[in-house]
Amino acid sequence: MLKKTLVGSLVFLLYTPLSAYDLRSNMLQLGAELAEVQKAFIASDQKGVEVSIKRFAEHSQALLGDRDNFSAMLPPDKKHKANEAVMSAQIINHNVEIILNAIENKHNQSGIVRREEAQRAYTYIEHACFRCHNIVRDEYK
Ligand code: HEC
Repeated sequence: MLKKTLVGSLVFLLYTPLSAYDLRSNMLQLGAELAEVQKAFIASDQKGVEVSIKRFAEHSQALLGDRDNFSAMLPPDKKHKANEAVMSAQIINHNVEIILNAIENKHNQSGIVRREEAQRAYTYIEHACFRCHNIVRDEYK
């Protein structure tokens, strides 16, 4: 069983261009990092949100914020869609700011209001993922 999985993975690695493998593994990591943020929000764990959103923000900007870098990971017929990555990076960045400002109480609001604003900003981040998947990923499947 283990052997079969191993051979399967090796075959996958051999026949997948490195760039596509990069994109997939980066996306899997991004998904895991966003899941950590969601877990912290569901548990109303403010410290957990702060730690996980900072980690997610750093990685998402590194992956999506550089147009040329993202373009290089896309298949040839998709390269012209790399602008969507930068657009998504901006939406994500904007909403990460809202969450961090809420945690720091930058606008001097009640805890209840800040928590709701941060939760809403989190859902807008998810929306940025769906948006790009709809435009760039899911139409070629
Ligand atoms: C700029 C476009 C874009 C954005 C933004 C984006 N993705 Fe993706 N995502 C892709 C593409 C393209 C693939 C397909 C990669 C592949 O399998 O070759 C993908 C694949 C994935 C996968 C599946 C990996 C697999 O098993 O095939 C996950 C999980 C994922 N993305 C999570 C996320 C999350 C979470 C976000 C938001 C934080 C996000 N993505 C934002 C373009 C994007």
